[in-house]
Amino acid sequence: MVFPERFSNLPEYAFPRLRGLLDAHKPGGDPIVMTIGEPKHPFPDWVGETLMGSLDGFGRYPDNNGVPPLRHAIAGWANRRYALNLDADAHVFPLNGTREGLFNACLALCPETKHGRQPVVLMPNPFYQVYAVAALAVGAEPVYVPATDATGNLPDYAGLPEDVLDRVAVAYICSPANPQGAVASRAYWQDLIALAERHDFQIFADECYSEIYRDTPPPGALEVAHQMGADPERVVIFHSLSKRSNLPGLRSGFAAGGPASIAQLKQLRSYAGAPLPEPLQAVATRAWNDETHVIASRARYQAKYAIADAVLGDVQGYTPPEAGFFLWLPVQDAEVATLKLWQDTGVRVLPGHYLAREVRGTTPGADRIRVAMVVDEQELQRGLTKLRDCLYG
Ligand SMILES: Cc1ncc(COP(=O)(O)O)c(C=O)c1O
Repeated sequence: MVFPERFSNLPEYAFPRLRGLLDAHKPGGDPIVMTIGEPKHPFPDWVGETLMGSLDGFGRYPDNNGVPPLRHAIAGWANRRYALNLDADAHVFPLNGTREGLFNACLALCPETKHGRQPVVLMPNPFYQVYAVAALAVGAEPVYVPATDATGNLPDYAGLPEDVLDRVAVAYICSPANPQGAVASRAYWQDLIALAERHDFQIFADECYSEIYRDTPPPGALEVAHQMGADPERVVIFHSLSKRSNLPGLRSGFAAGGPASIAQLKQLRSYAGAPLPEPLQAVATRAWNDETHVIASRARYQAKYAIADAVLGDVQGYTPPEAGFFLWLPVQDAEVATLKLWQDTGVRVLPGHYLAREVRGTTPGADRIRVAMVVDEQELQRGLTKLRDCLYG
């Protein structure tokens, strides 16, 4: 049997790798799981009735473009949130969650060559893993750019050699960042967009944590590009109901950007996509039109930031997350700390470098653990207190 080489060097995915590290060992207490970024706050209580009211949609193949009410709800939300003028037909495209969109956008939009050479796809390191596999799928060279304390926890793409920048076709960027919790400021976006204009590449902005923040809404990439008068095709943003509305199982998100980019994405997906079933689109439509549940969920995350700051505030090297729901905590050795924490307390976290690649002998995150603040406030307080006493006591 012959298998493709393309993905042969992929490391084991973070969660099976974690199971390999921990599962042969007994937890030192009732497990408190803080590994996966799966929101646990309740989703809105109208989800059931909305779904039941649209069941006849299961009898139809869903339209590739999404039903008009969903596209209008998405465009309306993005226009309110970012002061844009997106058109529901030309500029937005519903997805089955951002993960597949982030993957498919690379297939649809990354060219075969850039100036006659192999294109480069930039991504932060550590990063959300789909970016790398998307780059490999299109035969591009993935370039992993450190996003560590030293760089403000966001990648310094402008610091790359000119020769690399000239080959860049796509730059992935995540803000608010998973796992670092950093937010790209307006100035950061302006610089990145200017760099993309200079070297003619597209920015894929993964903004799925945009609604989970302390007090100031994170600026958006399309918002800044629009204010700058950049090429409308320069930026594609990706958003999701998974984190915003606590609906990770709905599999609903969207991409928004320039009309040519969205048309290309639509074209690819008219061949190979799996559009969201209509009843789920009805739920998604209502979710984008409603802000009440988002504000309530955000208030709970704000309470969680306060718990984290109170419990861990005096730990040396603790950086309060600006947004999102991850803590990115300093340790000496990520695997040693993760195993000790599990064996001593039952608190389960993720070694930071499981989300990174080794570049020139260094793997960012090997001295970090990622802690997802998705459990309820009481359990979070309990878990973080155990974590502090075990690792920093
Ligand atoms: C940074 C980041 N991007 C994208 C996703 C994908 O989310 P979804 O496909 O549920 O929208 C996640 C989920 O954990 C994530 O953390």
